[in-house]
Amino acid sequence: MASELPGGWVLMNGVPMRPEQATVSVFDRGFLYGDSVFETMRAYRGVVLDLDAHLERLRISANALAMVLSADAATLKAEVQLGTKLAGPGDWMVRVISTRGLGPIALDPATASGGSRIVMVLPLSVPPPERYERGIVASILPKFGPGRWGVENAPKSGNYLHAVMATRTLRELGADEALFIDSEGNVVEGATSNLFWVARGSLRTPPPHPQILAGIAQRAVLECAQELGFRVELQAPSPSELLGADEVFISSSLREMLAVVAIDGAPIGQGVPGPYYRRLLDRYRQRTERCVSEEEQRAR
Ligand SMILES: Cc1ncc(COP(=O)(O)O)c(C=O)c1O
Repeated sequence: MASELPGGWVLMNGVPMRPEQATVSVFDRGFLYGDSVFETMRAYRGVVLDLDAHLERLRISANALAMVLSADAATLKAEVQLGTKLAGPGDWMVRVISTRGLGPIALDPATASGGSRIVMVLPLSVPPPERYERGIVASILPKFGPGRWGVENAPKSGNYLHAVMATRTLRELGADEALFIDSEGNVVEGATSNLFWVARGSLRTPPPHPQILAGIAQRAVLECAQELGFRVELQAPSPSELLGADEVFISSSLREMLAVVAIDGAPIGQGVPGPYYRRLLDRYRQRTERCVSEEEQRAR
């Protein structure tokens, strides 16, 4: 079993170890209830892109769940940087998880103590280059599981069963990504991505919403769109608006941007990645290169 675990490093409450040595207690509420918050980031040449923004979102997610993180942002940042240093200067998937801690089998969060914090630096698994050239196919699915949170944007909590089950359905459908409909019948986000669509000369993405995660890559794409002078509108499409769009694409910190060229078997636009996607992906990668080089200069 241990030999199937990936290479890389894990820090458990600040202590570095190999992934096969990293275990949590069965009384950890992250394990028992998904009572945890997390971030998934991408390291390029050993530099985590937008690390501060991710750690800030982790804090916002914890606040939304009235959870106290067991370390401040500076400590978490130092632990992430130690993890990537140990792992080496490659591209990595970096995950930070913070749980409410250990406790008896009881729902009351007040019974928890000693939050666990885990930093994982693991081999990156992203789609091959041809997917960026040819696009992916998606399927529109209802969103089960965690509903509306009483906050502006959904926290990134450990409870991802809705996405796990949607991914199972996707496998059966032969699709790559689920696009979720909210309770009002609008398409609001992907299983692990944010949604963009182009219609009537505007780039569109759903506005902040208590069922949607505010994506760090989504923010970067919007920054790129502004630099390119694109008209941007915050709007969630109905399924028929999405199917009639000129272009659809998704963003995530791990996968950057991927064009959706068909939804439930119907082609989007010309059925190939379109000009907005291409120009934005180019700009996104230039931004990444700029941010990573600046960080490398600072570290020298
Ligand atoms: C539900 C959901 N929406 C959006 C995203 C994309 O967020 P980010 O750009 O911060 O990676 C993710 C990433 O995992 C996600 O799980």
